[in-house]
Amino acid sequence: MRSCKNILVTGGAGFIGSAFIRYAITQAEKIVNLDLLTYAGNLESLEAVKNDPRYFFVQGNICDATLVDQLCKTHQIDTIIHFAAESHVDRSIAGPKAFLETNVFGTFQLLEVVRNHPHIHFHHVSTDEVYGSTDTGSFNEESCLRPNSPYSASKAASDCFVRAYTHTYNLSTTISHCSNNYGPWQHQEKFIPHMIKCCLENKPLPIYGNGLNVRDWLYVDDHAEALWLILQKGVSGETYDIGGECEMQNIDLLKLIIKLLNADPSLITYVKDRPGHDFRYAIDCTKIKKNLGWTPHHSLENGLQKTIAWYEPAIKK
Ligand SMILES: NC(=O)c1ccc[n+]([C@@H]2O[C@H](COP(=O)([O-])OP(=O)(O)OC[C@H]3O[C@@H](n4cnc5c(N)ncnc54)[C@H](O)[C@@H]3O)[C@@H](O)[C@H]2O)c1
Repeated sequence: MRSCKNILVTGGAGFIGSAFIRYAITQAEKIVNLDLLTYAGNLESLEAVKNDPRYFFVQGNICDATLVDQLCKTHQIDTIIHFAAESHVDRSIAGPKAFLETNVFGTFQLLEVVRNHPHIHFHHVSTDEVYGSTDTGSFNEESCLRPNSPYSASKAASDCFVRAYTHTYNLSTTISHCSNNYGPWQHQEKFIPHMIKCCLENKPLPIYGNGLNVRDWLYVDDHAEALWLILQKGVSGETYDIGGECEMQNIDLLKLIIKLLNADPSLITYVKDRPGHDFRYAIDCTKIKKNLGWTPHHSLENGLQKTIAWYEPAIKK
């Protein structure tokens, strides 16, 4: 069991990073959150921990190796969990360069720092999108990387750097690939919060193509729990795939949101498909369930009810 006392979290003001900090703050001795506060960072998501003596916030860039090195020394960091990224596929299609800079070069810079502090365990939070799309079956840790968008290509490239540094420099690392997360504090550019907002405001509900694309949905707190287990018990050099076991076509998910919000189904509007839109992602999370004893606790309906209950007052205010 790894001790994980002093943890550096990158991108902790983002959707998943903030959920992880809210979860881990009572388990670690110190959490240092390094976040650039791009459009996606939101410190309000950390109100619950901001006065905790174990919590430190630093606004800065993961590409700044001098800063990261200094933080590791000052705070005697023993664990880095790396969330910071450009994370929106549509933005990666409109402007891929930032994805290369943050997701690939930023990860490389962090690995360079870890090379100078080899006692640090480095966990890389990646995505199931690196595996590409499949019509049947599901991906697991042995599947090939076949990314199809600039976003997933940048994440696959960073995965490869983590792997290479582990083997070449004997670093202690783990990687996880998760499916689509949802829950409180997600940026409203993402599918579920966007649809909740449109339902509440009685606006058109835009859905790509024919709406038949399939995604697996993971409640963000279940993800945070899985990541904590990996930090403590994950075997160095191993990858763990994390899924919510809630696969659904986008159109059926939208109909469920409409039902839960008692919204008007005639607002559904089919829009021109995203270029290169992957048809289906599916993840087999047997390994983390079997080896680390993790299981997702939320059904999609249960997780959506909690998510809607959180967004409703936030959007109406
Ligand atoms: N959201 C999902 O459904 C999902 C699914 C699979 C994998 N992931 C991965 O999980 C991680 C977290 O995703 P998220 O949804 O919380 O992302 P997010 O976009 O909500 O947050 C990203 C955070 O990183 C910060 N950041 C960006 N560039 C930075 C830089 N150069 N230096 C320091 N901080 C920087 C932003 O300010 C923001 O707070 C990402 O690596 C993403 O690829 C997300």
